[in-house]
Amino acid sequence: MSPLRLSIRARLTALYAGLFGAAGAVLLGVTLWLVSRHLERTLPPDAAADALAGLRGQFALALIGTLLVAIALGWVVAGRVLRPLAEITATARRVSQDRLDERIALGGPHDELRELADTFDEMLDRLAAAFASQRRFVANASHELRTPMTVLRAEVDVALADPDAGVAELRAMGETVREATIEAEQLLESLLTLARSEAGLERREPVDVRAAVARAVEIRRGEAAERGIDVRVDAPAEAPVVDGDRRLLERLAANLVDNAVRHNVPGGWVRVELAAGPDDVRLVVENGGDPIPDASAARLVEPFQRLGRRGDGPPGAGLGLSIVRAVAIAHGGGVEVRARPGGGLTVAVRLPRSAAAAPAAAAPAGGAPSPAARTGPPRPRPS
Ligand SMILES: Nc1ncnc2c1ncn2[C@@H]1O[C@H](COP(=O)(O)OP(=O)(O)OP(=O)(O)O)[C@@H](O)[C@H]1O
Ligand SMILES: [Mg+2]
Repeated sequence: MSPLRLSIRARLTALYAGLFGAAGAVLLGVTLWLVSRHLERTLPPDAAADALAGLRGQFALALIGTLLVAIALGWVVAGRVLRPLAEITATARRVSQDRLDERIALGGPHDELRELADTFDEMLDRLAAAFASQRRFVANASHELRTPMTVLRAEVDVALADPDAGVAELRAMGETVREATIEAEQLLESLLTLARSEAGLERREPVDVRAAVARAVEIRRGEAAERGIDVRVDAPAEAPVVDGDRRLLERLAANLVDNAVRHNVPGGWVRVELAAGPDDVRLVVENGGDPIPDASAARLVEPFQRLGRRGDGPPGAGLGLSIVRAVAIAHGGGVEVRARPGGGLTVAVRLPRSAAAAPAAAAPAGGAPSPAARTGPPRPRPS
């Protein structure tokens, strides 16, 4: 059943008995030599030879006897030492996706085996958390998808139940069905983008982040103007380049600008700031608006997390910021979301600069490289 454990136990026993036997043989050999020298000096040669022969036989018997005892003791001791390992193996075997709550919880002294067991338990904690979040994600995604589907069916049912439905009613149904379909389509598209960016980058090309940001702002200008929102963009003169996926980076910029305009108050403001350090590019999108609790701000990067209940605010799947985070991480960067003290949100994204373009571009521009940009997430300027 467990040949490995047996063999380690046997090997430890053999090692122990071997060392014991060797040490015993050396000790007895030296003793025999000392005794023989003494006997040769004090007894006639024949008597000394007889006595020595007898002694040799007794020493050999004693050595074999103690060796057998050592083997037995070694076997028992090795078994005791290896027992925690057996426990760890048994737990590892029992643990499966459905029984991730099992833990070894090894007691005893803080030795190497305890450390191994604790490390294994910590790994199980992380696995259990990951599986739980996966399940939550699937549950949320199904729930979100059900909403437009329910609308679809209800609309079609109502139209079918009315035998006298005219063209106007059918057209109205068509409109609603179309909206619900678009909503489902957008949700699926976001889920797909999220899954793709979490899987890592398939290809890399030099992407001009400034152009991606400019496009994102341009697309939202109309909506911002309609709601009287002032959008200001602050970008460096030279274009910072990031090695990455153009579509994903464009999506990142679009999601941030989209959020800042959509989750804003009428007559509010948005500021988009792009800055290039020696090693990375920082994109900070800030907007004013209603106050947001600090604790809520941090969880907004999790999928399906919104402020307030669904339907309260502007429509959205709640995936935009999780896509931003996944894209930033896929590019080797990160994102930080913070509530602004005066209301509204600050989202700061850091992306590593393209290694090829960075040294040449950083030198002539003379832009003050921030040392903080190397280590931590970007710090937006206080406004
Ligand atoms: N710039 C912002 N200002 C204020 N609140 C914001 C801002 N950005 C995001 N939020 C809040 O965080 C929530 C999650 O944002 P996220 O972009 O992940 O999803 P969404 O905008 O609701 O939907 P979508 O998937 O269409 O982007 C939003 O519903 C909103 O409550
Ligand atoms: Mg969004």
